Amino acid sequence: MAVIAGDGVGQEVMPPAITCVDAALARHGHTIEWTHLDWGSDLYLRTGSMMPRDGLDLLSSHQAIFLGAVGMPGVPDTETLWGLLIPIRRAFEQYVNLRPVRSLPGITSPVAGGDALDLVIVRENNEGEYSEIGGRAYRDRAQEMAIQVDVFTRAGITKVAEFAAGYAAHRRGLVTSATKSNGIIHSMPFWDEVTAQVCAANGVELESVLIDALVAKLVLQPSHFDVIVASNLFGDILSDLAGAIAGSIGVAPSANLNPERTYPSLFEPVHGSAPDIAGQGIANPIGQVWSGAMMLDHLGQHEAAADLVAAFEAVLARGIVTRDLGGTASTDEVGDAIVAELTA
Ligand code: NAI
Ligand code: MG
Repeated sequence: MAVIAGDGVGQEVMPPAITCVDAALARHGHTIEWTHLDWGSDLYLRTGSMMPRDGLDLLSSHQAIFLGAVGMPGVPDTETLWGLLIPIRRAFEQYVNLRPVRSLPGITSPVAGGDALDLVIVRENNEGEYSEIGGRAYRDRAQEMAIQVDVFTRAGITKVAEFAAGYAAHRRGLVTSATKSNGIIHSMPFWDEVTAQVCAANGVELESVLIDALVAKLVLQPSHFDVIVASNLFGDILSDLAGAIAGSIGVAPSANLNPERTYPSLFEPVHGSAPDIAGQGIANPIGQVWSGAMMLDHLGQHEAAADLVAAFEAVLARGIVTRDLGGTASTDEVGDAIVAELTA
């Protein structure tokens, strides 16, 4: 397994998460070999690159990638994102960004009267609005302009919609597609057509909901949703919103999947490097730990994954939580409590 702890709180949540993953696997007689890679903003400041030139080659010889977070004040976010994460997601065709969100014991939703939620966001991860196509012209002149071109392909939409439909078939069977085909008149009607074709072919129910109405419904009635499929930008925003409704961004996990398993997949918490709390030892490690459980699941270690989830849920239920959840425990204390559950 390749490990990139990265920047800020990534360095703090990664060590306990690795210990937890090891403890969960040990219960089933397995071990993992971890390759620690010191890639990130420090390397960028020293060398001008977030990862070595042969970085992708090195990663490709691993079964999976476990990432903390990247991003550092003083280093442009475009460098950290486009210098590491986006090249990995694209080179390894990780076209699904999977983000489960559900109510957890001991965590209350900040939304008044918020009902229980258990949904999965399937975000398209390789194309859409996050495209390099476009440009700037007439710099610093009155007629200055920026053009940013969205890229939607039939192959890209089909693959992500097929993943969402397949996922929903094992859940409640409802796919909600985030759209904006009333305002965005080329790409979004295309998105709607292809998602409808895929869901019909796979026998799952589809509702296409305009993104503005969708965000309102997500706040008012989160329990309605099962699997939400969304473009790169919409999925990015929806997953932070859903994570916040669930109670904390510090617990939200994600998987960047290459479903065909031609390339390694990447597992990372939804949160970033949190420079405002970095270095204090108070970051919530559960987003990283839960991402580790998703990694175990992907590798076929389903029992170890389930044990790991049960262990952090038990720790949450006992109120051993970090400050973002209203507690006083440190990052390491939460990690130790999870390991204690796994070794009890
Ligand atoms: P952020 O997720 O780092 O922080 C947002 C808020 O959530 C902050 O108040 C932070 O203290 C809190 N938070 C985040 N993780 C937490 C944890 N584990 N426990 C408790 N509280 C936590 O997002 P922000 O501030 O927008 O970005 C900071 C940097 O991280 C930027 O450089 C950004 O580009 C980068 N970033 C990197 C990501 C990645 O590596 N995949 C994802 C998102 C942001
Ligand atoms: Mg985001």
